[in-house]
Amino acid sequence: MTTTATPTSYIGQALSRVDGRAKVTGEATYAAEFDPGPRTAHGVIVGSAIAKGRITEIDTAAAGSAPGVIAVLTHLNAPELPYQQHKSLVDAQDGERIHVLQDDRVVHLGQAIALVVADTFENATHAAALVHASYAEEPAATSFEDAAARALPPGPGNAKSGQPGDTRRGDPDGALQTAAVTIDAEYVVAREDHNPIELHATTAAWDTGTLTVWDKTQWVSNTRAELAATFGIPPENVRVISPFVGGAFGSALRVWPHTTLAAMAALHTDRPVKVVLTRRQTFPLTGYRPHTEQRVVLGADRGGHLVAIRHEGTAETSTYEQYAENLLGPTRFLYGCPNVATRYRLAELNVNTPCAMRAPGEISGIFALESAMDELAEALGIDPVELRLRNDADRDLDRDLPFSSRSLRECLTVAGQRFGWDDRDPRIGSMHDEQGRLIGFGCSSATYPVYNFPASARAIVHPDGTAVVSSATSDMGPGTYTSMTQVAAETLGLPIEQVHFELGDANLPEAPPHGGSATMGGVGSAVHAACAAARGQALEQAGETSSHADLTQVMSRLGHSVEAGGDYRPGEDTARYSMHEYGAVFAEVAVDPDLGLVRVPRVVAAFGGGRIVNPKTAHSQAIGGMVLGIGMALLEHTAVDPRDGHVINATLADYLVPVNADIGELDPVFIDEDDPHVNPLGVKGIAEIAAIGAAPAITNAIHHATGLRMRTLPITPEMLLRP
Ligand code: MOS
Repeated sequence: MTTTATPTSYIGQALSRVDGRAKVTGEATYAAEFDPGPRTAHGVIVGSAIAKGRITEIDTAAAGSAPGVIAVLTHLNAPELPYQQHKSLVDAQDGERIHVLQDDRVVHLGQAIALVVADTFENATHAAALVHASYAEEPAATSFEDAAARALPPGPGNAKSGQPGDTRRGDPDGALQTAAVTIDAEYVVAREDHNPIELHATTAAWDTGTLTVWDKTQWVSNTRAELAATFGIPPENVRVISPFVGGAFGSALRVWPHTTLAAMAALHTDRPVKVVLTRRQTFPLTGYRPHTEQRVVLGADRGGHLVAIRHEGTAETSTYEQYAENLLGPTRFLYGCPNVATRYRLAELNVNTPCAMRAPGEISGIFALESAMDELAEALGIDPVELRLRNDADRDLDRDLPFSSRSLRECLTVAGQRFGWDDRDPRIGSMHDEQGRLIGFGCSSATYPVYNFPASARAIVHPDGTAVVSSATSDMGPGTYTSMTQVAAETLGLPIEQVHFELGDANLPEAPPHGGSATMGGVGSAVHAACAAARGQALEQAGETSSHADLTQVMSRLGHSVEAGGDYRPGEDTARYSMHEYGAVFAEVAVDPDLGLVRVPRVVAAFGGGRIVNPKTAHSQAIGGMVLGIGMALLEHTAVDPRDGHVINATLADYLVPVNADIGELDPVFIDEDDPHVNPLGVKGIAEIAAIGAAPAITNAIHHATGLRMRTLPITPEMLLRP
């Protein structure tokens, strides 16, 4: 352990994970590993073979008599469920979730049309292959190009998503006509799937009207609320347990059909049922980052000051739900430009609904904006970093609010110096390495909103000086167990070994989604409040007047436990200030001009994420985000057959993510930020910002190396070999 200022000063210390040992020894239990007893059965989903239509016949005879099969559920025999209205903070905002096995309608390929329940996973898998459905097929919308031609702005039911169809500030068209230089370019970001290594899984068991699910989820409270609504039972009759999540990136923010199916099958068969999606099934049965096509028009004066921005984007969504995301929000405030118009459209397709994937919207929108900025810098003959500095904003012109803090300038300066930007020869194709590869340097700005969601926590301190602190949050990998333990131990004034943090159980004090980079700020502030209250109570009950008293001694004197709750509620500053994280990313690429291969020897980035609670886990989270950005630039691509919406690379062999050999030196640094407005802890968040900006830094570097503009992601070798 690092030396600390005082014995119990932990916030800001680079501590190792408190759950590290449990994870590497296999002691940590994930959703698919819970075993509610020998009667536990295994469910395997059968997916539809068409993208749109009706099931006219479904033959389950062979499957039903296959070895080990307990039940075959289809829309013909499945329990009828009330499916009451349920909308959460992160649900697709307009439309209605699929009511699984409730009717004969098919709206996307691979939609769950049956669940085979058997004594083993193998027997269920075998029998699932014997289910045969006949369909009355209808013409399906599966081509993005066709759907984009009739794309619509987010509908009236979508207001909660906060994503407007059209916005305008000033007179962008007029300003573009008089601009000295204009850029007008189109950008495409491929659909991507989250592909966490832990597969999506749910184990469900009923006990006299009470449902327990062990689930892979980023939000136990929401899983409870939605299952209660779906089954028409009180939320207190649903227990959701999810102590460990092996990566999710947003894919476990919603309740997907397999979770409902597990609970439905457990009800139908009167035994615990476990459903684990195969890798292939996660593509049609959970969400994904939507394919987007964007157009950016920039106008600037000779001095490089932006006079107009027009940014349009169209994203895919399903026919049954409108998933809208913050694609264009950053463009409206990132630079100090007086004339800005954005236009957001959704293309409805017979596909499953997309969902939030790390930095949802922002990462794609900023790829387009920051690529266009590089094109503008080139057209003006101004250094790309200098162009961004010249357009720094001192106020949020979109919301007409001051910034709570703003570190964009410092991020660009600090990361640029660390990277050695000044060594860049600006001439295209002028830099080489000893192997004859073309070297390019590129940069990008980044930003992500600070979200503040209400959260609650509880602290119990025992006479032996141990404490249990809890909140119904999740830990999908960033180190929430560890960082919350640090906040709790420091606030209580107890040695960290004496403090245990619990999460991932819907019976704990309510927490918001473990997403939006918001956990540390909101849940952390609630943990802080609960621990401060518990410490205060203990001192008071013990008649202790010194605020520096040793709590272990105080508790031993007191002789009984104290318990206190603590809440975080977003304050007035949330409406008075524009709150964002910032970043700057610098990438070096090496391009083999004969093979079209791109390597990324190094990426340097600076991020302003407010107070950093644990520099070690923060560093891990940052390099993870940067790897995601490299993957977005060069590899990640959910390839969809436009004829039927079939994902043709739905395996980890064919869906490429960076491996160690693809990653060079990653060097993230955090800017010291003291933001008194964001929340009591001064935490902004770092999960999403760290993923943003790497892709445009890489494509801008490729342009510097080769003179070729890569406006479509991911970049494949043939794109660089094309004349
Ligand atoms: Mo993340 S997309 O906020 O889980």
